[in-house]
Amino acid sequence: MQSLALSWCKRWRFFLVLVCCTLLVSYGYLSYRPPYRLYTEFTNNEIQIARNFLKDQVNPKFVKFKQLQGAGFNNQVQEILLFHHLSLISSRIYTYQPFIWRPRNQELPLSVFLPGPTKFTIPFALFNEVCSPESVTHHRILGDHNDIWRLTREILEGPDRCIEIDDWILNWNYLSSPALQKVWPGFQHYLSTHFEWSSQIQAIVDRAYSTLNLHSSGTHGEPYMALHIRRGDFPGHCTSLADVGMGFTTWATLPSLNDSILPPALDAKNKSSVMEHCYSSLSRILDAIDRHAIKKSHLRALYILHDGAIDHLPVYLDLWKLEAALKNPTRAQRAGWKNGPMKLVIDSSQVPIKWGENDFTVAVDVELARNAEVFIGNGYSSLSSQIVALRLGTKEGKMEDITLL
Ligand SMILES: *[C@@H]1O[C@H](CO)[C@@H](O)[C@H](O)[C@H]1NC(C)=O
Ligand SMILES: *[C@@H]1O[C@H](CO)[C@@H](O)[C@H](O)[C@H]1NC(C)=O
Repeated sequence: MQSLALSWCKRWRFFLVLVCCTLLVSYGYLSYRPPYRLYTEFTNNEIQIARNFLKDQVNPKFVKFKQLQGAGFNNQVQEILLFHHLSLISSRIYTYQPFIWRPRNQELPLSVFLPGPTKFTIPFALFNEVCSPESVTHHRILGDHNDIWRLTREILEGPDRCIEIDDWILNWNYLSSPALQKVWPGFQHYLSTHFEWSSQIQAIVDRAYSTLNLHSSGTHGEPYMALHIRRGDFPGHCTSLADVGMGFTTWATLPSLNDSILPPALDAKNKSSVMEHCYSSLSRILDAIDRHAIKKSHLRALYILHDGAIDHLPVYLDLWKLEAALKNPTRAQRAGWKNGPMKLVIDSSQVPIKWGENDFTVAVDVELARNAEVFIGNGYSSLSSQIVALRLGTKEGKMEDITLL
């Protein structure tokens, strides 16, 4: 009798565990399930809008570039914006590629994230329709980094109706070379006129401002600084960068940002120096925050963008240590803060997202950092360097409100 009761009890427990697991898995599935209907709608709209646009074009000229296939969100954004800019200045219609969503290896409509490059342009799906394969001139761009942008532009300004660039011209080496600096003035202007996030992303950003009590133009919350820490996979990544003597990436190399680099100056030939900037200690990060908190004593809120995740748990420990230090009144006083310690320390994981909005969170992070009064980032991260470019390009952001660790 007793053993029967025991076995029932065991079964009952097993059943309970099963129900809990099912609920958990379904919750995870539903909350992470991307908005497929929205995506399909946007993909169809892109084609419709492009067809209407083409009807009015007299002698249109097109270009299709070889693009990244599924790097990080931000690397794709950066590349798409540069290609769109290059197409515009050479009076060609840009053929835009869908976003390649790496975690699911899926193609998503670009316009649902970054509408700018999808206006007065055509999606990949239409290229073969407007440019029959025999009508396409293929080009390879051979030359030194310093010449690549100019050479490509000369080709694009030529008479051919349909051009396809077969080399991946915006490769990593080019993006980390000083040659990119020549592109900056034009690209800065491009950003000021063409950059925008989709209304889906903007809606989450607006919600974040009101729920997290942060201030942006038109909202009442706390004025804040933003900090981007890149830590998850960076210990290994930084070590390999130190081994090859790599300097900062893309826009972080702009000479005008020189004074924004947290001392001591970066010496790419010195491995410890690379590590110090690429994977800064918490005390260096606190030092950067102190400098701004002293200068701007009204800033007592911090938004932290980070890469903490289930496979990068130590990042959360670092976040916890930072928050404890920043909220400590004794430490604030010792560091010379005039207005007491931080009142509010918030991080990426607290952005109030609804079901189906997970794909948008990186963009929301970028936007919150773009609007912050002060930005502290990592010169080795393309996300940080993109935020710097957007601040300088679209917000008339000042160099002195930026620190690169
Ligand atoms: C940047 O500043 C450092 C130290 O102040 C200086 O040694 C270096 O030459 C400067 N670099 C540029 C490109 O201005
Ligand atoms: C290399 O960088 C580290 C960290 O900044 C510094 O302490 C050290 O003196 C540097 N070594 C040389 C040879 O410059």
